[in-house]
Amino acid sequence: MTAKKLHLAAFVSAGPVSGSHGGWRHPKADGDLLSAAYYQNIGRLLEEGRFDLLFIPDIVAIPDTLGGSLDSQLRYGALGALRLDPLVVLSVIAGATKHLGLGATISTTYTQPYSLARALATLDHVSGGRAAWNIVTSFQEAEARNFGLTEQLSRDERYDRADEFLDVTTRLWDSWQDNALVRDREAPLFADPARVRRINHVGKWFNVRGPLNVSRPPQGRPVFIQAGASARGRDFAARWAEIIFVTPGLIDVAVEFRNDLRARAARFGRDPDSLKVLPGIVPVIADTEKQAKALHDELYGLAHAEAGLSTLSYHLGVDLSLFPQDQVLPENLNVPGVEGHYREVSELTRRSGLNLAELGQRYGAGRTTSGFTGTPGLVADRMQEWFEAGACDGFMLQIPYLPGGVEDAVHRLVPELQRRSLFRREYDGSTLRDSLGLARPVS
Ligand SMILES: Cc1cc2nc3c(=O)[nH]c(=O)nc-3n(C[C@H](O)[C@H](O)[C@H](O)COP(=O)(O)O)c2cc1C
Repeated sequence: MTAKKLHLAAFVSAGPVSGSHGGWRHPKADGDLLSAAYYQNIGRLLEEGRFDLLFIPDIVAIPDTLGGSLDSQLRYGALGALRLDPLVVLSVIAGATKHLGLGATISTTYTQPYSLARALATLDHVSGGRAAWNIVTSFQEAEARNFGLTEQLSRDERYDRADEFLDVTTRLWDSWQDNALVRDREAPLFADPARVRRINHVGKWFNVRGPLNVSRPPQGRPVFIQAGASARGRDFAARWAEIIFVTPGLIDVAVEFRNDLRARAARFGRDPDSLKVLPGIVPVIADTEKQAKALHDELYGLAHAEAGLSTLSYHLGVDLSLFPQDQVLPENLNVPGVEGHYREVSELTRRSGLNLAELGQRYGAGRTTSGFTGTPGLVADRMQEWFEAGACDGFMLQIPYLPGGVEDAVHRLVPELQRRSLFRREYDGSTLRDSLGLARPVS
């Protein structure tokens, strides 16, 4: 019996691709991804499966890195082809659920601390303490061009801005003391002016007087998620993040990454257990090995190689159409985009020898971390192996097609994990912090 339980998050795009670029083309996929009902159904299912969190990734441009064109993203319904606003979608899910955490990806580079603090405090209030924020600094030229810039800030500038952004938002969430909202009808005293203060922040990137015009959120502040993989990104995560989302590919790499993050967190004076590392996996589950293999092959075939290559190009910030498609991905590329993804596909190329076209299809099918296709028992075996090896505190399930993949996870995989006492049968409290066993930050 394992006393410690693993945590489960679901990666659900508010767009066509969650775990596999072939997912939206699957005959059983629900195509109505612009409707409230689609997201509410997924939220309710995840809550039935006692998931900690539904996580929505986001970017703020349609990528055009592959060949300088929008064509491959739009035509093949690739990862960046369409993205609804995560906060609006999560608000809709909040109304249909009671316990499920709600994670929104929002960029520190293209928003202001005041508006972000306000929006997330609102989500935390109306959901009863379930908001989480995936803090991204953004990495595409295409995004810069939607916000009045002709080129991106450098990686260091983006992280400098993010550090100051976090200072400001945490102080805004603290600008109301916990007991400041009194609502005494007789007195009358709606809010106690003595318990609400300005923050008077004057900095390099922001000048913000405060206070916030929303009272302190139920969780004190939303749960912080981060996915930076460079040295600077890891330090940022170690300082701020409570959930870390990674795509390590191999179990050994995952162990090394988690140990590194925990050591960095300790250097920032934090308890390493306050940091939950969740590797992304694409589970393909069916009752028999044969059925799972058939579903895997079906999804693989539906993921167009150019769609995957298009998404990999924007993830790396490198136009991969400029390289011969029958050769392997070059080593030691200068990658202005996500270093973590470059490390992941370089490692895969070394292991598998896939050429660029094959790599595109594999990346598009979402299967750089292999071994999570099979019966519920087999997938649970692999998850248990990773968990017990210290490779993770749980998983980010990148659901290959929706809602069928969620049903497979909730009705097949979760009961198997519960039987092994690896996963909760009931929620531990009412907020996302309760589910994650994280303390509520004091004001
Ligand atoms: C698994 C994973 C998921 C990510 N999801 C997003 C996302 O949804 N939106 C975004 O703008 N960046 C996303 N990123 C990018 C990171 O937030 C970060 O900007 C990027 O890794 C560059 O930082 P780094 O150089 O420290 O790695 C993701 C990165 C990884 C590794």
